[in-house]
Amino acid sequence: MTNGKKDIEAVRARVGEIASEYNERGDAMGWFDALYKEAAGDTEMIPWADLEPNPYFKQWAETNGLKGDGRKALVVGCGLGDDANYLNDLGFEVSAFDLSPTAIEWAKKLYGTEKVQFEVMNLFEPPRGWIGAFDFVLEIYTIQPLPIEMREDAIDAVARFVKDRGELVVVTRGREDDEPLDQVPWPLSRKDLSRFQVSGLQQKDFVVCPAENDGEPDRWVITYAKA
Ligand SMILES: C[S@@+](CC[C@H](N)C(=O)[O-])C[C@H]1O[C@@H](n2cnc3c(N)ncnc32)[C@H](O)[C@@H]1O
Repeated sequence: MTNGKKDIEAVRARVGEIASEYNERGDAMGWFDALYKEAAGDTEMIPWADLEPNPYFKQWAETNGLKGDGRKALVVGCGLGDDANYLNDLGFEVSAFDLSPTAIEWAKKLYGTEKVQFEVMNLFEPPRGWIGAFDFVLEIYTIQPLPIEMREDAIDAVARFVKDRGELVVVTRGREDDEPLDQVPWPLSRKDLSRFQVSGLQQKDFVVCPAENDGEPDRWVITYAKA
C-alpha cells in the first residue's frame, strides 16, 4: 500500500492470481470468498470495496431522483453491502445477497442486520419466492468477473428477479463488441447486454461514464424495465 491508499495495481494482480488459481481448478466462483478471507477485514485488499455507494450508480440515482417509497429492492452480488445500504437510505425495503459467506458476514458487521436483509446465496440457485419479486434490482460488477461462458446464464439469472413493471439497473465496464477480452474482470459489450432483451426486459436508458481512474474502460449504467 502507498500512503494508506489502495495500491490498485498490486491488489488487482493478487486478484488475478487467486482467480486464475481457482479457474484452473475448474472452480470459477470459489475465488471470491478466498479473496474476502485473505483480506481479513482490510478493505484495501478488495479492489471494488469503497465503503460508499458506487459513484456511477449514485450519480445515476441523483440525476433520476431515485426514491424507494417502500418498494422492494434486491442487490445482486452485494459484496460489502455499500449499495444495499444506500438503497435503504433512499427508502427501499432492501434484500441483498452474495455467494461469499465472508462478504456477507463483513457486510452485516458494517451495516447491521436491521436495515438490509443480507443473505448468502448463489445467483444461480435463488429461492423460488425471489423470482419476479422485486420492484428494483441492482447489479454492479457481478456479471463481468464470471467466465464469459456463463454470461448468458448470469444475465438470465439477474433478469428473472425483476417484477412485472419493475426496473433493473446494471453498472458494468463496457467494451466494443469486437474488442478482445484480456483478463478478469471481462467488460460487457452491447451484444452481451442484448441478452437482457431476450430475457424479457426492455432497455430504457444507457449512460456512458468515463472511468474515474485513467486508462480504465468506461462504465456503463444501463436501465431496463419489465413490461
Ligand atoms: C466484483 S464484486 C462486486 C461486489 C459489489 N457489487 C460491489 O460493486 O462492490 C462481485 C461480487 O459478486 C459475488 N458473486 C460472484 N459470483 C456470484 C454468484 N454466483 N452468486 C452471488 N454472488 C456472486 C462475489 O462474491 C463478489 O462479492
